[in-house]
Amino acid sequence: MDEAVGGEEYLFKIVVIGDSAVGKSNLLSRFARDEFDLHSKATIGVEFQTQVMDIDGKEIKAQVWDTAGQERFRAVTSAYYRGAVGALIVYDITRRSTFDSVKRWLDELNTHCDTTTARMLVGNKRDLENIRDVSVDEGKRLAEEEGLFFIETSALDSTNVKEAFQIVIREVY
Ligand code: GTP
Ligand code: MG
Repeated sequence: MDEAVGGEEYLFKIVVIGDSAVGKSNLLSRFARDEFDLHSKATIGVEFQTQVMDIDGKEIKAQVWDTAGQERFRAVTSAYYRGAVGALIVYDITRRSTFDSVKRWLDELNTHCDTTTARMLVGNKRDLENIRDVSVDEGKRLAEEEGLFFIETSALDSTNVKEAFQIVIREVY
């Protein structure tokens, strides 16, 4: 548990990382506000949203941090990761280059967080099955190799978005 707020409440910091345009910001807006933007702009700096969840009858506050995938738009890296108890490492199932980048994102995560940080590999844009470039098996295999949970999501049609965050939060809770 990261931080107790009052008697019954807990605050968990979760970071979302991955290449630009994989859908990090839309996963967060789908999770926190049930919104999706087909024409969202690249994130500049850092944004976060807090979502209250009920887990086993306890009120959990998930504070989810989202930053730019593009290096030139990123803010101070160490501050971004500080205190994170969970991480979503996101790639786009229609762009192999974003899957190849996962190892680099894991290196950065490992530099700033210890092994107790719960990690979920997220293959997003599952709705675009017709132009899929990374198979489910490849995603699973990488997750196994690296000791990550694995899920495929669609921020567009909401598939598995809540689940992705819930699994990570349950793990740290
Ligand atoms: P940066 O802020 O630059 O790091 O990008 P990001 O990872 O936050 O990507 P963002 O959420 O802005 O989404 C990029 C584009 O992908 C947008 O046009 C979204 O509408 C689209 N997108 C995001 N998630 C999905 C999805 O699940 N399915 C489909 N079809 N498109 C998606
Ligand atoms: Mg973004």
